Amino acid sequence: MVPYAEYTAHKRVWWKEATFYQIYPASFKDSNGDGWGDIPGVLSKIPYIASLGVDAVWLSPMFDSPQIDMGYDISNYEAVYPPYGTVADVENLIEACHKNDMKFILDLVVNHTSDQHDWFKESRSSKNNPKRDWYFWKPARYDDHGNRMPPTNWRSYFAGGTWTWDEHTEEYYLHLYDETQPDLNWENDDCRRAIYSSAMQFWLDRGIDGFRVDTVNKYSKVVQFPDAPVTDPTSDVQPAAQFWCNGPRIHEFIKEMHTEVLSKYRTYDGQPVVTVGELSLTPEPQGVLNYVSAAAKELNMIFQFDITHLGQGPPGCGSKYDFTDWKLPEMKRIVEKWQTFIDGTDGWTTVFNENHDNGRSISRFGNDRPEWREKSAMMLALCFAAQTGTWFLYQGQEIGMVNAPMEWSIEEYKDVESKNYWREAVAVSEEGADPTRKERIAQGLQLMARDHSRLPFQWNTDSNGGFSSGKPWMRAHDLYTEINAETQEKDGGSVLSFYKRMLRLRKEHSDVFIYGTFELLDAENVSTFVYRKNFQDKTALVAANFTTSPQPLPPTDGMELLVSSYSKTTPSTLQPFEGRIYIDY
Ligand code: NOJ
Repeated sequence: MVPYAEYTAHKRVWWKEATFYQIYPASFKDSNGDGWGDIPGVLSKIPYIASLGVDAVWLSPMFDSPQIDMGYDISNYEAVYPPYGTVADVENLIEACHKNDMKFILDLVVNHTSDQHDWFKESRSSKNNPKRDWYFWKPARYDDHGNRMPPTNWRSYFAGGTWTWDEHTEEYYLHLYDETQPDLNWENDDCRRAIYSSAMQFWLDRGIDGFRVDTVNKYSKVVQFPDAPVTDPTSDVQPAAQFWCNGPRIHEFIKEMHTEVLSKYRTYDGQPVVTVGELSLTPEPQGVLNYVSAAAKELNMIFQFDITHLGQGPPGCGSKYDFTDWKLPEMKRIVEKWQTFIDGTDGWTTVFNENHDNGRSISRFGNDRPEWREKSAMMLALCFAAQTGTWFLYQGQEIGMVNAPMEWSIEEYKDVESKNYWREAVAVSEEGADPTRKERIAQGLQLMARDHSRLPFQWNTDSNGGFSSGKPWMRAHDLYTEINAETQEKDGGSVLSFYKRMLRLRKEHSDVFIYGTFELLDAENVSTFVYRKNFQDKTALVAANFTTSPQPLPPTDGMELLVSSYSKTTPSTLQPFEGRIYIDY
């Protein structure tokens, strides 16, 4: 291990070396049988989480909410959704994490609130309410026939337009997401101060160690609200991200958030608090660096989503669930791009392939058939564990949870985005504008819907996988008797045991794994993903077979085998879905 002082390229900081474990509260553990996961449930599983070897917990929104978008529609930042528990429960959870040497971060969802938030209720109550300007209100336009039209033709994230008519005050309000998620107006100073106080300071004062910052690059809009060019003639709403993403004042707002709030807080052990931003629609490294350069004092790191977009239509255009096949070299180029963009800079990167907004990685990038799912889970664990940046794991990934079965009907899908895309696809197909869209979107949802990652955590072989003694809000996976934590805890050869091992190795070799430089080898090979990591005199070679057939092992140049995802290796062949790391000190 290279001594602290000799890490020259990237300054050592706790959040770079930490592995974060994301918890989706609705689906983790239900303690009272109402079918919803809850905070006491999470508390009861602290020993399990700590046993993984992760360093920090990220809890997805547990704030009070009508749950149209699973808590990303907040009606009160300072209260907890009652089925999840109370503020005191969250305080206990913060303390329990800290006692177990784990930091704890919350989601910061401040691009929008729920339409049930008091701020919005006041704002919509009259045109001269003091909070009217805390959201975006605009008068209607009218076409040549006198028909009322929204202020712009922008398409929203979850299908449909971005403006909803309010009968009471006879104006439209803006929402980039669902109509129940009105966008906050960051141009308004009082509104920003209220966000800082209610959504940030309230929880920082209760001891959290930072935030995952939702939709962080959408706070600043082009406030002249121009129409977007028509790129989809079949629709009356058009992709318009250029007017609401990475807008003119975005860096000013994020810097202010850092200076006025975040810079004034420390973690429970006296270090700077952390931020990881959700940064969509920013394909260029320089665009990302503008947010994560340490000198900029904005965010510590961000999630860049090229990896989870593999196979999806272009982001922001309404074709997300129109699946197109992809080949391994595409994934490799994406990984290479976001591994190397920090070379020679003061920025930082993240490593992840699952979260609550995506299908499961085994089903997306490996193979979830019974004979391959464990092998591909371990290969993926190995392939990502050696990458530079901060590693984020999503609940259930560590036991190899897979997508919902193909046979499940669309009725089992609960996500607002899935439902809206499905409704739109049915309408477009039936009108004849795009007759095959329905089948295509059905297939896309089977593979990539956000629902897959939201299935209840599979704890054991009890009914509903031990998640709840009641009827779960979302159906438990049919395979919980075969894929569950309890069985895997007793099995040294399980996916769970392998993740724990990779987490240990990542710490032991943090110099080369977390801080090393990344070099892609054999870029065009469609079967194996091979890369080298270098840190001073130390080198690691990672080779992963992404296919169901044996593949030649690349030259290992006398390096020592550190780990294989198989218990027995063969001399010059990578077995199906085998991953290996060789090391040279
Ligand atoms: C991103 C979150 O990850 C997603 O779940 C949510 O629907 C949107 N932001 C809107 O808040």
